[in-house]
Amino acid sequence: MAQIDLEFLKKLYAEFSNKKETTSAADKIQPLPFNMADEDQRREMWTETGNLLFKQGSVAAFTLAGGQGSRLGFDGPKGAYDFGLPSHATLFRLQARRLMNLGAKAGKPIPWAIMTSPLNHSETIQHFEDHSYFGYNRDYIRFFEQGMLCALRPDGTPLTDENGDYVEAPDGNGGCFRALAKSGTLAWFIEKGVRFVFLCNIDNALVKMADPTFIGALAGSGLPCAAKVVHKKNAAEKVGIFASKNGKPAVLEYSDVSDELRNKTNADGSLQFDGGNTGMYVFRIDSLRKIASQELPWHAARKTVSGVADCWKFEQFLLDAFPFLGKIFLFGVEREDEFAPVKNATGNDSPESACKMLGNLHRYWLEQAKVKLKAGKLYEISPRLTYAGENLSQEVFDRELGRGIFEF
Ligand code: UTP
Repeated sequence: MAQIDLEFLKKLYAEFSNKKETTSAADKIQPLPFNMADEDQRREMWTETGNLLFKQGSVAAFTLAGGQGSRLGFDGPKGAYDFGLPSHATLFRLQARRLMNLGAKAGKPIPWAIMTSPLNHSETIQHFEDHSYFGYNRDYIRFFEQGMLCALRPDGTPLTDENGDYVEAPDGNGGCFRALAKSGTLAWFIEKGVRFVFLCNIDNALVKMADPTFIGALAGSGLPCAAKVVHKKNAAEKVGIFASKNGKPAVLEYSDVSDELRNKTNADGSLQFDGGNTGMYVFRIDSLRKIASQELPWHAARKTVSGVADCWKFEQFLLDAFPFLGKIFLFGVEREDEFAPVKNATGNDSPESACKMLGNLHRYWLEQAKVKLKAGKLYEISPRLTYAGENLSQEVFDRELGRGIFEF
């Protein structure tokens, strides 16, 4: 039977069984405005700075892949799911190949940390083994497991299964900072001279891994961290939004924001609370060290676990790092270019919507390169050929069709 920290669980239960988690009416919530990076005059300078940082080996990537992906319903790590692209690329493969594209330009591989959980660790490694690590330099990838926490019965006693084993679940994506340090991966980054860490979810099919312009923007800002945001589709879209809460940056979940605030507009009719969180961040290495040495708050949820209704599950959230760090650079990007999450089995944010968005973007890149395309076809371009639409031409298309470019 696994060891669990009973005293710690008792403490959490005592705290939460008497408390209701809500945003208090006394909280001072204000919009946190942002600019679209595309329109910013500093953009070229950011890209140059970012490219230089890559050449110096100062940038690493960190993927969160410890979630259970329950909404998708795929029985395995989400990153290993063939979500329907013509090439059958998985989310792990897309991430690996995009990083390799940047690494090739910089002349050195990018250190890449992948956080799994004990529930999907061996399957994740197996996926990489089965695909020869997608050609990634294996000395530059590290996998480590996040922590687990036992669920509690409604009366606060540890939940056990029919064999008497504790029923544990991942301790939330906020556990990533502790796990990064505990696993030695933070030290590994520091030994390698890393100063900036791009951190992202596993589920975004359009993620611009370690985007040099984004990294350069944070480097030039002097701030502790940065996040990419998209305009909300409309006031009712259920996405976390960046806002200022009691003077500190915070991500407010849909349910944390009143109808009145949600619908508040500026003079031009745009939404005031508009910075939708995309799950793409950059942290300075010192910020990661600071957070890792700190206990982020815990959150409790009441859920049916192993058939027992109303159990307690405790988690930490990555988003609690932002108030703690105190300041953030918000980097606005176009949803169509960068944000196609695979969360649900069907409908919004599904494999189908992600494939469609990737197809639209890649078609647009080819059109910009003046390539003749067939109407109604889906085009997919391998990250081996382009990172964000550069280096494409009719000649490349003719040479790569059926190899690095797929037409469906
Ligand atoms: P989500 O909150 O979307 O959760 O995770 P999920 O597990 O992927 O999906 P559902 O909610 O069960 O359907 C956002 C990111 O945080 C990671 C996920 O892997 C994803 O990249 N995550 C989440 C962890 O790494 N650990 C966790 O404990 C929870």
